[in-house]
Amino acid sequence: MSSSLCIDLKGKTALVTGGSRGIGRAIALRLAEAGANVAINYLRHRTAASETAQAIEERGAQALILKANVGEEEHIQRMFDEIGKTFGRLDILVSNAASGVLKPALELKLKHFHHTMDINAATLLPLTQHAVELMGADGGRIVAVSSLGAVRAIPNYTAVGASKAALESLVRHLAVELAPRNINVNAVSAGIVETDALRHFPNREQLLQASLERTPAGRLTTPADVADVVLFLVSDLARMIVGQTIVVDGGYSIMG
Ligand SMILES: NC(=O)c1ccc[n+]([C@@H]2O[C@H](COP(=O)([O-])OP(=O)(O)OC[C@H]3O[C@@H](n4cnc5c(N)ncnc54)[C@H](OP(=O)(O)O)[C@@H]3O)[C@@H](O)[C@H]2O)c1
Repeated sequence: MSSSLCIDLKGKTALVTGGSRGIGRAIALRLAEAGANVAINYLRHRTAASETAQAIEERGAQALILKANVGEEEHIQRMFDEIGKTFGRLDILVSNAASGVLKPALELKLKHFHHTMDINAATLLPLTQHAVELMGADGGRIVAVSSLGAVRAIPNYTAVGASKAALESLVRHLAVELAPRNINVNAVSAGIVETDALRHFPNREQLLQASLERTPAGRLTTPADVADVVLFLVSDLARMIVGQTIVVDGGYSIMG
């Protein structure tokens, strides 16, 4: 990178899981604006993926759409085969897709818990293993998107919160193993962000209002706020940040 401190990702290739909508879309567009070609993964909503791919191309970057369930190893394999064929390499992996069962702990079945852990946490393992193969000698960057539920107890968030805690731990373990290969692994943990995901919360309005009132910055965190920190983490500016979880919440979580 030049000494002008401009983040230039030209010639780089990124994969953003769940890159079709919400926070993932904002990340995909930021990376494209910085010059990276971006593969976006989705599971159900093809139209959203097509619209995001078009927006990536409007920013002068190449887009690749990959339909895959990140909870399924064979799907992940197919996704990376496609990336290998199209781009021949990968420099940046953003593990952002998430799902999960929102229920009080006493109503959660073990299968709900396993499902949530697979999609939100365990997936980082095969994603990273495949990404490393395509990263080569120059190394690369891996960022996982977490949430404050990793370290706080939030009603109905038991399974997702536990999965995010596992994700952040996995980030630290992978970071230690991959740092010698010049691959930095970190996480970004966001406060409440108004995306479609919140529609699944029975107490959505209450959550948004409480979050707003408690946020010293005076507004809710946006997808773009999260995307900017991801951009920083994948840039050369963050070269010595290894295995960290960076909180992006306008100060919400430090309030007493
Ligand atoms: N929203 C918040 O308040 C908030 C706060 C902190 C952290 N986060 C984290 O930020 C990330 C993005 O959240 P969001 O709010 O942007 O979610 P969102 O708007 O619901 O978007 C979810 C994205 O993930 C994809 N997806 C879901 N399940 C998938 C699967 N099994 N395999 C592949 N793709 C899958 C969706 O694709 P389809 O549309 O095709 O299903 C979509 O692109 C998540 O890791 C979430 O935990 C969110």
